[in-house]
This record gives sequence, structure tokens and C-alpha cells, in this order.
Amino acid sequence: MQKVAVVGGGFMGKTHMTAYQAIKQAELVALVDATPKVRREVKQQFKIAAHASIESVLEDPSIDIVDICLPTNLHKQYTVQALKAGKHVLCEKPMALTVRDCRAMLEAAKQSGKFLMIAQVLRFFPEYMAAKKILDSGELGKLKGMICQRRSPAPDWAWKGWLMKPEASGGAGLDLHIHDTDWVCYVLGRPQAVTSRGIKTKAGWDHIVTQYHYDKALAVAEGGWNYAPSLPFRAAFMAICEKGQIEFDTAKTPALQLYREGKEKPEKVRVRKAPAGKAAAGGNIEDLGGYYFECRYFVECCQKGQAPTIVTAKDGLQAVEVTLAEMKSAETGRTVKL
Ligand SMILES: NC(=O)c1ccc[n+]([C@@H]2O[C@H](COP(=O)([O-])OP(=O)(O)OC[C@H]3O[C@@H](n4cnc5c(N)ncnc54)[C@H](O)[C@@H]3O)[C@@H](O)[C@H]2O)c1
Repeated sequence: MQKVAVVGGGFMGKTHMTAYQAIKQAELVALVDATPKVRREVKQQFKIAAHASIESVLEDPSIDIVDICLPTNLHKQYTVQALKAGKHVLCEKPMALTVRDCRAMLEAAKQSGKFLMIAQVLRFFPEYMAAKKILDSGELGKLKGMICQRRSPAPDWAWKGWLMKPEASGGAGLDLHIHDTDWVCYVLGRPQAVTSRGIKTKAGWDHIVTQYHYDKALAVAEGGWNYAPSLPFRAAFMAICEKGQIEFDTAKTPALQLYREGKEKPEKVRVRKAPAGKAAAGGNIEDLGGYYFECRYFVECCQKGQAPTIVTAKDGLQAVEVTLAEMKSAETGRTVKL
């Protein structure tokens, strides 16, 4: 059994807490949150201890895992503190706002001998897991193109509006679009360069479109949160392979379909179902599936003493490096090499 404390009880913290309570090998024991109202809500909803500062969690030797769901500008400080106190750490994406901070987190993990995993959750979304399995099996031949899209109304739930402050969140580039950057890197590896264009406001890069350069495949991703509140959140990708395509689109039912060369009709792809229902209310995500599988995987790794491999802290760093290169490309109008 792994005892877990969550730090940050907002939208993502509540989502992770709901997931932990559905995971057999985990015991959710505490929350740390700076806001009294959040502590009251969490005590009532999850029946766990709620602290105003992290010290009581770090001083408790029975706690194995600290899960950081704080605004991004706080990730490095709290992750390093928890690792130094001898805790395994699951930290929300993006890993941090700068490559330097990401490296400091990696170094703290190395020094502590504890596990650090970055919550690049697409790698655990049932549809993305199913698509990755098909791509890896080689049954559709080589992957020739990955076209991704992520559209969202501006997030309105954030504590003190931190998501709209680029110095705290990195804007839509680092906060939203990084999901697809990580997905592209997951299926195609590190790109040689990126060429990006975007729409910038005082909230940072609100919208970004990137071509990732690879020798043998085309990869493009578009992400933005500059949409009206009435526009439903939508995530999609089209994987173009030699012998067919895999399409994912949250606006379609079923969301994941396989189009095989030579077949008249699309095939529905079976995806894993999480034994836990809805994500926390108020944000832009409904299904808990990806978060359940992600938290369960980290708990299992800690339980077995095996370092995570599906997503590593280095993958978290890479996603930040590539996304920052995209923002630099959009800023300068030039291709940025990686
Ligand atoms: N993987 C995903 O799909 C996904 C979705 C949303 C958010 N996120 C990430 O999760 C993280 C949190 O985002 P969110 O949407 O939950 O934010 P949020 O604003 O809903 O919650 C943040 C919480 O942190 C608390 N807090 C702030 N400073 C604190 C401090 N110093 N000590 C303790 N508590 C403090 C606030 O009181 C608030 O409850 C971010 O890194 C974000 O990018 C990931």
C-alpha cells in the first residue's frame, strides 16, 4: 500500500484525489492547500487531513508519494522539497516553466534516489494508449503523419487567475498545447527542429500551430484556448500510416476509429475503461480514465520499486524544451533547431 498526499486541491488536485480513492494499492491520506475554502471542501468530500503547508506531510515518514498539482511556477520548489524529504513525486505537467528548473528537478530526483514522474497524461488516455499500441504493432505499416488539434475556451477556474498569467502558466503553449507536443514526441521521437506561428496576447501564446521536423514523417499540432465559452473543448488527432489511418476526435462517437486500406467501413477500436467515473467538476475534462491509469501506474511503480518508463522526468523536460522552442519560433518567425 502506498500512502499519498496531494499538494494543490484545485481542479487537477481533486481529479487526482478521486483517482487515488479508486486505486486499490493507494491510500489517499492528506491534502496540502493554501486556500482555507479548498481545505474545508476536500476534508468534507474526501474525508482526509488537509494542511495549509507542506511541512507536516514531508515530516510524516508514513507518506510515500507526494503528488504536486500546484500552479506551474511552483512545481520546481515543491518537487525538489518533497524529493529531498525522501518522497516519490508525481508532478503535473508542464514540468516547469524553464529548462533550468526542469534540470534542477531531475538532479534532485537523482540525488534522492526517489522516483519523479511528470504527468503527461495523454500517454495514459485510453484512446491514446490504444492508438500507440496499434502504431507500435506495425500492422498499419510506418507512421507517415501525425496531425493534432486541441481547442479550448479560456480556462476560467484557476486560483487567482494564474492560468492567464504567462509568468505563472507559460500561456496556452506550455499549459495546453504541450500535451500534443509530448504526444508527437512519444510516437515520433525528438524532432530535429520546429517551425511555429501563433496568436499572442497579454496572456502569452494563446494559440500556436507547429510543424515538427522529421526526416520520414509529417507532424503538425495546433492548440489554443482563445475560443468562446460556448465552444466545446475538443481534442483530436489523425495518424496517417502506410496501410491506414487512426482518427481520434472527442467531437465524434466513437471517438477513436481505424480506417484500414482495402476495407469499406471504419473499425471501432476497443479502449480500456477505468473503474472510476468523472473527473473533478469545473474544468474542461469529464472522464477520469487517463488520470486513473496515470496515478495507478505511478503507485504501482513505487510499490514495486521500479522506475517509471511510460513517461519519465526526462520526457517531461523534453516536452518543455520542444514547446519553448515552438514559442521561440513563433516569436522570431524562424525555424528553431533542437
Ligand atoms: N493534465 C491535465 O489535463 C491538466 C489539466 C488541468 C491542469 N493541469 C495542471 O495541474 C496543475 C494545477 O492546475 P489546476 O487547474 O488544478 O489549478 P487550480 O487553480 O484549479 O488549483 C491550484 C490550487 O493550488 C493551491 N495553491 C496555490 N498556491 C499554493 C501553495 N503555495 N501551497 C499550497 N497550495 C497552493 C490553490 O489554493 C488551488 O487550490 C498545473 O500545473 C496545470 O498545468 C493539468
